[in-house]
Amino acid sequence: MKKLIASCAILLGTIALYAQPKLSKDNIEEVLDAMTLEEKATLLVGGGWGSMSAGSMTASSAVLVPGAAGTTRGIDRLGIPPTVLADGPAGLRITPVRGGDQNTYYCTGFPVGTVMASMWNTELVQELTSAMGNEVLEYGVDVILAPGMNLHRNPLCGRNFEYYSEDPFLTGKTAAAFINGIQSNGVGVSVKHFAVNNQEVNRMENDSRVSQRALRELYLKGFEIAVKEAKPWTVMSSYNKLNGEYTQQSYGLLTTILRDEWGFDGIVMTDWGTKQGTVKAVKAGNDLMEPGADVEIERIIAGVQAGEITQEELDRNVRNMLEYIVTTPRFNGYRYSDKPDLKAHAELVRRSTPEGMVLLENNGVLPLKDVKTVALYGTGSYDFIAGGTGSGNVNKPYVRNVAEGLAVNGLEVNADIARWYEQYIALEKTRLGNSGSGSGILLGDPVISEMEVGRSFIERMEPRTDIAVFTLSRNAGEGGDRYARNGDWYLTGQERELMQDLADVYHAAGKKFIVVLNIGGVIETESWKHIPDAILLAWTPGQEGGYAVADVLCGKANPSGKLPMTFPVNYFDIPSSTNFPYNNNNAQGNNRGRQSQRRNVDFTEYAEGIDVGYRYFQSEGITVSYPFGYGKSYTTFEYSKPVVKAGTDGFTATITVRNTGSVAGKEAVQIYVAAPAGGLEKPAYELKGFAKTRELAPGESQTLTVAVDAYTLASFNEAASAWETASGTYKVMFGASAADIRATAECKIKKAQSWESHNVLAPAQPIN
Ligand code: BGC
Repeated sequence: MKKLIASCAILLGTIALYAQPKLSKDNIEEVLDAMTLEEKATLLVGGGWGSMSAGSMTASSAVLVPGAAGTTRGIDRLGIPPTVLADGPAGLRITPVRGGDQNTYYCTGFPVGTVMASMWNTELVQELTSAMGNEVLEYGVDVILAPGMNLHRNPLCGRNFEYYSEDPFLTGKTAAAFINGIQSNGVGVSVKHFAVNNQEVNRMENDSRVSQRALRELYLKGFEIAVKEAKPWTVMSSYNKLNGEYTQQSYGLLTTILRDEWGFDGIVMTDWGTKQGTVKAVKAGNDLMEPGADVEIERIIAGVQAGEITQEELDRNVRNMLEYIVTTPRFNGYRYSDKPDLKAHAELVRRSTPEGMVLLENNGVLPLKDVKTVALYGTGSYDFIAGGTGSGNVNKPYVRNVAEGLAVNGLEVNADIARWYEQYIALEKTRLGNSGSGSGILLGDPVISEMEVGRSFIERMEPRTDIAVFTLSRNAGEGGDRYARNGDWYLTGQERELMQDLADVYHAAGKKFIVVLNIGGVIETESWKHIPDAILLAWTPGQEGGYAVADVLCGKANPSGKLPMTFPVNYFDIPSSTNFPYNNNNAQGNNRGRQSQRRNVDFTEYAEGIDVGYRYFQSEGITVSYPFGYGKSYTTFEYSKPVVKAGTDGFTATITVRNTGSVAGKEAVQIYVAAPAGGLEKPAYELKGFAKTRELAPGESQTLTVAVDAYTLASFNEAASAWETASGTYKVMFGASAADIRATAECKIKKAQSWESHNVLAPAQPIN
């Protein structure tokens, strides 16, 4: 009898084991079959705010990686572990110091997105993000919530620093390189914010109203390139609406376009929040709700029980989740070290950063010669801004400032000026209550306004110094757009006066004056750019910023960045300036009791269509302050006669670039293409390829060949819902910038081609 009972127990145990398969790469369908409705719903909803492996079905509720933005929930019964998701994109964002723990968990502060795009060097971007991805892996995170790749529709978008460019081709190629670098470590990315999330004012609810053509050619194009070329593990749907529907609930966006047209096979997760409409999100193909709330599990269960979500829809999303989970390091039991090589990564960042810095002006003063002592002005010289605020702010071990950088390059920074600034900054920080790391996720520390510096002080310091440098700083970030007013887009009167005084005093003494721009986005430059002898646009380039600035000023590095956007003469030259939140006050200013009618708050009309950035300025012949693609070097380059050969699919464009100057340097060559007349109306020309030389020694040359396929030449025909490439003669231009075309060739495309797509995401009425 005893034997019989024992055998029965073994049998039952075996059945139970059989009924409870443990997840492996080979049994996804079996696990799916074994899951209850509750378990399935649980897998589609994240574990709540912060990195908790929360949820009733998980044994442990311990924090997995402190400071990570979220998790997916685990299901112990089926051997499904929770996985960890943490921000980006300028490096990994986790908590650096943890109670009762002697170790630190700092992450490298990499150059922000705009700096990466300014490099025009996809190999270098990939090298940088391979290092970033190693930190993701070694700190126990499975997915970094990056790259951010919304288009710079308007320069005042508060998060532009996280994003790349006004051009979708440069955006897509930079993002693909970013993704390839991260994912080469066996961890994933989350490409964000999908899509048309181009302003921060009312970012959770704003309805972006955009034509199908502008949507396809501009706002989705970068994502399309990134998805097709780099296969991101995950995509993050944005908070906003697109033509009346939340992107996270849009079947047309998340399934028809993303999966059916582009072949995406990873998971889609929401941006962080809990919207109504969970059922719709599930049906649309939004697999994961982040950060996740129990109410969303309940809604999914109720939706299935009511027949609103079909079994197939539910299983499709759960299958996507299981396929994602089995690829993660956490599932595969990776034993992370918590000790990435931060020193090696810092060296890589310092070495790479000058490639993203743009030399806007230089009358020969740079690189510095015969300079021993520097009069260093500007709060940013001593309190350098490494990156913007919000979830993209990395907890880095330090930020190198310009004063430190000049010192390690062997220059003496005038001690009196330094002492003044340091005391001022310390007192202002106390007064403003700056914590040093940003209090609250969205609120960064307020930027310290410039110290009053009288002309007489400058005059007293001048004889003791060989040159004056002024660092001008700006910052912005998540949750707010920038302002078209003094102190943001424009200089303050005080900044302007300081610049003029420095220029006057130093020029009178036969000395020079340089401006360093430590800014996250475009500012007005036309009215003052003639004042200094050189302007270095350093951006907010990460923790090694001050070192890299000084390396460039001193000639240790030759800057080779080029602008990924236009610097206009006037803000109001920008077509979207009339359809963008103005001075952030539209939320109140336009609210005259008609809540649903608030332009640029409740909805934003992208009335400019495809007239964004250089597409508009070049086509209309409008003068700009600095054109797209612009950037000087310490050397000069000569472009050869080009060769353009039509092939079976598009053409190849070849040119030889020779360094004709006296120092080594790199050149980013841009391929712009003008389409034949007759087809759809197009911009004067558009960027369709680019390549950067290796570092060329004086006299050295390199031949660059860029392939442009027929699909890349296509425009979107709304009437036919198709991409179309017209036949005819294309003009292929080799530019040092969009306004500096160095060589041109023609190419005949014999056969017109078209690619069918779907008629989805149309605006309710024409946009104007
Ligand atoms: C931001 C995302 C970020 C997420 C998690 C959201 O508010 O928009 O970019 O990844 O928070 O921190």
